[in-house]
Amino acid sequence: MCDRIQLDDSKQQVADFYSQRSARYDDGNWHPRIARRLVEEAGLSRGQQILDLATGTGMVAIAAGAIVGAEGRVVGVDISTGMLQQARRKVEVLGLENIEFHLADAENLEFPESSFDCIFCSSALIWMSDLPGTLQAWHRLLKPGGLLACHAFDETAFVGGVVAQKVLKKYGVSLLFNQPTGTVEKCHDLLKQARFEQIQIQVKEDGCYIPLEQAQGMWTGNGSSPVLGQHPNPLLNLSLTQLSQAKREFAAELEKLQTEQGIWDDVTVFYVYGRRPHSGRQQASLL
Ligand SMILES: C[S@@+](CC[C@H](N)C(=O)[O-])C[C@H]1O[C@@H](n2cnc3c(N)ncnc32)[C@H](O)[C@@H]1O
Repeated sequence: MCDRIQLDDSKQQVADFYSQRSARYDDGNWHPRIARRLVEEAGLSRGQQILDLATGTGMVAIAAGAIVGAEGRVVGVDISTGMLQQARRKVEVLGLENIEFHLADAENLEFPESSFDCIFCSSALIWMSDLPGTLQAWHRLLKPGGLLACHAFDETAFVGGVVAQKVLKKYGVSLLFNQPTGTVEKCHDLLKQARFEQIQIQVKEDGCYIPLEQAQGMWTGNGSSPVLGQHPNPLLNLSLTQLSQAKREFAAELEKLQTEQGIWDDVTVFYVYGRRPHSGRQQASLL
């Protein structure tokens, strides 16, 4: 199994970012909850072949492995060695033998065409640098009739990102953040362009109140954290003085959102499903 991988600088930065977070990634219940629901709604059966892209600490892979059983197989893929280390540790503790993990880029996979009954991408679609091309590649890896299941987040989601977007606009920085998949229509169009059919998108409104200090701590404008879907990091165009000024404005904007219960952190999730058509005829009819 490969334990090294050649990544460009921006992907290596993402991998390092998650490796640093990996030991604490499973804290809290939000990620496990939405990962579990993504799997539950996918309607998996025993014996199926599953690919979990950007598997992280293996939450989806482990949930899927329990359903497909010993006759099935789950392959989890990630670019972060730290996240995969956690995933492998969990699988070992649980004694699961139908799950394997690979260090690989979800945008550069080498599996044969039509290998999988279901492909998952939980909480990670937005990290892909070429969404249309990547979705087409994943479509090819599915067996005819196979299912893609992924999360996307509403453009209103994650208060830190939304407020940073607003503040940085004044500095001429356009942060994409959740924009590429931030509406049901955008998700639908992306899947349709990649020739998926039977597209279903469930919107699950979600969120919670968080303390002001926690929201203010979400500032990622120091230029060293990766920026979702944007390479090179557009914040590198700002001077240190501009970044400190923007950080102060970010804190002030959040203060305006303060309520008695704290600050509302919207995390509305889209559960996005689409199938590879069963036959060439059906595929052609979509064109
Ligand atoms: C928010 S975590 C999601 C992890 C897991 N899927 C879950 O639901 O908890 C994002 C993950 O995407 C991985 N990732 C980002 N870009 C990737 C890529 N191009 N190929 C594979 N993994 C990637 C990161 O390393 C990280 O583990």
